[in-house]
Parts: sequence; C-alpha cells; structure tokens
Amino acid sequence: MFQDRVLSGMRPTGSMHLGHYHGALKNWVRLQNEFPCLFFAADWHALTTHYEDPAVIERSVWDMFVDWLACGIDPTKATLFIQSRVPQHAELTMLLSFFTPLAWLERVPTYKDLVEKHADHGRDVLTYGFLGYPLMQAADILIYRANKVPVGEDQVSHIELTREIARRFNHLFGREKGFEEKAEAAVKKMGPKKAKLYRTLRTRFQEQGDHEALTQAQELVNDVQNLSFGDKERLYGYIEGGGRMILVEPDAVLTETPKILGLDGQKMSKSADNAIMLREAPESVTQKIRKMQTDPARVRRSDPGNPDRCPVWNLHQVFSDANTKDWVWQGCTTAGIGCLECKQPVIDAINSELKPIRERAAQFEEDPMLVRNIIQDGCEKASDLANDTMRDVREAMGLNYS
Ligand code: TRP
Ligand code: SF4
Repeated sequence: MFQDRVLSGMRPTGSMHLGHYHGALKNWVRLQNEFPCLFFAADWHALTTHYEDPAVIERSVWDMFVDWLACGIDPTKATLFIQSRVPQHAELTMLLSFFTPLAWLERVPTYKDLVEKHADHGRDVLTYGFLGYPLMQAADILIYRANKVPVGEDQVSHIELTREIARRFNHLFGREKGFEEKAEAAVKKMGPKKAKLYRTLRTRFQEQGDHEALTQAQELVNDVQNLSFGDKERLYGYIEGGGRMILVEPDAVLTETPKILGLDGQKMSKSADNAIMLREAPESVTQKIRKMQTDPARVRRSDPGNPDRCPVWNLHQVFSDANTKDWVWQGCTTAGIGCLECKQPVIDAINSELKPIRERAAQFEEDPMLVRNIIQDGCEKASDLANDTMRDVREAMGLNYS
C-alpha cells in the first residue's frame, strides 16, 4: 500500500485572512504533525480565472507563503511548493484528459455557478482551461498519490471526480496482460500460511464487502519481505479485483470548526471588504470590530437585541468560551450590556490570536531569501515524488519506449 500522504493547495489571488486561518491553515498545522504533508500555491489554477491579471498572482504567491509560515506551517515537517515549478502536473493533466469524459467535467456541480459568478466580476471563464480546472486539481492530487485532501465543503465534488478518474485510470491501464496468473504466482510466493490467509481475507472482502478483511489483507501484503514492488502492487490490486493500483483514490478531509463569517455576516473575503487580514495591525482590528454592524433592531442602548441577527455573535461562536457566550446572550437580550462592551472580548481574542502570527511574519518579511530557499527546496522534493508516479503512469500508458 502507499503510505498516508496529505496534499492541499490554495489559489494565490490575494492575501490571507482569518477565514483562511480558521477554515484551512489551522487544520494544516495540525495535520503536519500527524502525516507527511504537501502544501502548494495553485498558481495555474489562479491563472484559469485571473489570466488578465497575472501580476496579482505573482505578488500573492510570496505573501501567501509568508502567511502560511507565520501561521505555523513548518517547512521541516511539510513540503511547500509552487504548482508551476513542478511541470509534471501539466503532463499528468494532459494524459488524464484523454480518457476523461467531457460530461464529467460539465456536470461538476460548481462549474455553471462559477462561470456565472466570475462573469459578474467581469471575468470570462468560458474557456478550455477553466472547464479543465477540476481535472488539473485531480492531477495535483494523484501525482503524489495523496490519500487525504483537506478542503472546504465546496471542493468535495472535485475530490469525488478525482476518485472517479483514478478508478478509471486503474481500470484502463492497470490491467496488464496475464494479470490473474501473475497475481496468483505472487500469492504463492508469500508462502503457504500467508497465502492461505490472504485468500481467506480476499474472499471475505469480495463476497461480503468486509472492509476489516481488506485492511488486514493489505497489512499482510505490506509485511511480506521477499516480494518485488511489482508483485506487491499486484497483490494489493488483486484483493479488490482486477488490476494493479497505480493511482490512489483520495478522501476529502473536512474541517469541523465553525465557519468564520466576515464583518458584515457574509462570507469573509478581501474583495467584499469584510475581512480581517492575518498581518493586520492591532489598532486596525480594534477599529474594524468597533465599527461592525450589530442587530439592526438594537438602535438604542436600552433596546434588547437578538444575537442570532448579529454578525458579532458569529465571532463569539468562534472565539469565546461558554461563560462569555452566556454573558453575551443574557446581556444582549436584556439590554444589560452595550454593543461595544460585547465586542471587547472578540477584539481581545482576535488580537491575541494574531500576535504570534504577526511576529513570525515579521521574521520572514525581513528575510525574503529565506522564503525563496524554503520554496526552492520544497519544489525539488515535490518534483522527486511526482517523478515516481509519472514513471509508473508513463509505463502503464505505453510511453516508456525502453
Ligand atoms: N481548487 C482549490 C481551491 O480553490 C485549490 C486547489 C487546487 C486544490 N488544487 C488542489 C486543493 C488540490 C486541494 C488539492 O481551494
Ligand atoms: Fe450583537 Fe453583542 Fe450588540 Fe447583541 S450586544 S447586538 S450580540 S454586538
């Protein structure tokens, strides 16, 4: 079996805000301690929509890396790289495109909505490249055989598509001639005891769909010492059915944290001007929150309010403990507290969360070469991993001409 590997990317189209931190980066920081992780700047994905504005992408790439590092992404644990610096992603995207039905891309639920949304911003994305956006994303994931992909809810359909593409690839190209015979020969090479156990587990999985048996059989194969890599791959593939598993089907990893909304209660985004940026100065954070709209029904201090109609309440959900939340609910609905008073704990919590981030960011801002070197290093590591997969992919597709 291939080892656990986490991969995720972000489009460099602007600087990072609290929404990115709570929605993704905090989770990445946690994951880097548990699994080998790869995190990258999806600059080609950004170009599919911002091809008229490449300067933004170039600038955002470096800002974005500084923000990631400032949040605690540790380059000794996670590999950080730029998509376009590993051009093998483009090769795999193209190879996958040959057998990806057009209808699969046209039917991705986000496609039509996104075309319209971008048109509202004056961007024409009725292009070949934009239709292929989720396919390029599939290549990003499959090229590292990543099995865990932390993404937002809106990206789940892209992971689903990635799984289908991997399955189709393995089905089309993982069937070598005489697979069954070769797999049977590999089973015998395990020795009689292990071979018997392997067969029992395989039958249990195939006939009863017993996933426990699947895992056990995979572990059994993993532990066998004297088998070639090719034979091991055959044995993994043979448990589940037809062929070798060349590409790995990934799972989405969703964050459970409550969603952080912008200052106006809408989705936080820099362009909507409702965001708190990760490197924002404390005074600016304080001002922005003090100016936030509250429950529109609370005109005078003596009017009771309803937190459910107030965007400040959403911030309390994310930043306050149970006691503070009780205090808000009580105070607001009885007009016991004023809105500025209610906002103060949020201001304090955000500023103390951002303090170490600002400090770490300053170190990287002072030393741009440090960031360049980290990324250079990451691109090389990513490229080596990508080559491992591409070698198998080219061979399976009949392209190695040895
Ligand atoms: N489409 C993702 C987004 O908009 C970014 C992305 C590109 C990505 N390639 C990826 C995320 C691969 C996870 C894995 O957020
Ligand atoms: Fe919103 Fe707090 Fe004012 Fe209530 S007291 S309206 S929750 S800011």
